[in-house]
Amino acid sequence: MVTSGVKLLSGTSSRYLAESIAANYGMALGDVTINRFSDGEIQPVINESVRGEYVFIIQSTFQPHDNWMELLMLIDAAKRASAQYITVVMPYFGYARQDRKDRPRVSIAAKLVANLLVASGADRIMTMDLHADQIQGFFDIPLDNLFGSAIFAPYIKSLGLEDIIVAASDVGSTKRARFYAQNLNCDMVICDKYRKRHNEVSEMQVIGNVEGKNVIMVDDIIDTGNTLCKASNLMMEKGAKSVRAFCTHPVLSGKAYDTVLNSSLTELVVTDTIPLTSKNEKIKVLTVAKLFATAIRNTHENKSINSLFIKNN
Ligand code: R5P
Repeated sequence: MVTSGVKLLSGTSSRYLAESIAANYGMALGDVTINRFSDGEIQPVINESVRGEYVFIIQSTFQPHDNWMELLMLIDAAKRASAQYITVVMPYFGYARQDRKDRPRVSIAAKLVANLLVASGADRIMTMDLHADQIQGFFDIPLDNLFGSAIFAPYIKSLGLEDIIVAASDVGSTKRARFYAQNLNCDMVICDKYRKRHNEVSEMQVIGNVEGKNVIMVDDIIDTGNTLCKASNLMMEKGAKSVRAFCTHPVLSGKAYDTVLNSSLTELVVTDTIPLTSKNEKIKVLTVAKLFATAIRNTHENKSINSLFIKNN
């Protein structure tokens, strides 16, 4: 195992995951302090030399915005401290939902933060289940997009369920759902949703037959939970035996925990790219730490990371 020349760093809110990734990698996290001015302004300090090192900065960019600012300033600090190569390990890529100009006078925030990452000094990005694959093209540096399916598919198989069918929770998840359906060797259906405004689902219909099926619903993000819970209720009304949701990034804002608890979902399975803020008997967390540790190791040793993606049958 190569650890020489590697430094693993993290800001505040992703430390729980960064420590676990570092433990799987076989080394301790680098020493970082986040100072604060009395008005709340932050000042990240790297307390050890990174001169000539391969620095991996592990930070998911969920809310609050301090996570973004910490990340950008840590990259800048590492660059100015003469790090040789800086890889940003961002298990959850915040602002990825704003990836196009779909109405007048709005920002393409995903492109804006891509520019900020590169301007700060990032040489490579490693992330997971990007909201839209095209975001890779917002960068002119290498970007590795790991798949949550590498974590979820073995768990789904371990449940030993019969009569399974995969559901895309919206049209945007169709490609992801097809990948699961091929891997699990089953059919798929699509939930078609219409939103009038953010986080509110106005209309939904299921395209396909779920009667008598144990549904495996997949999505990249669960935010308010409205999409997944509405889809689950609809599929149960259409005769599904059960509905389980597999969702990589548990944003879970507002009343999401209650929405999930009171829904017809049997289980919501998420990863730890974002920490849960409350316990919930319906939510199970699977860790991505080992997968990211292996991806970091392979990257540092210039080995392919292709083996980390599950293959279709
Ligand atoms: C949307 O395109 C995403 O894939 C998710 O379906 C969405 O972000 C979920 O949001 P919410 O949980 O608020 O319905």
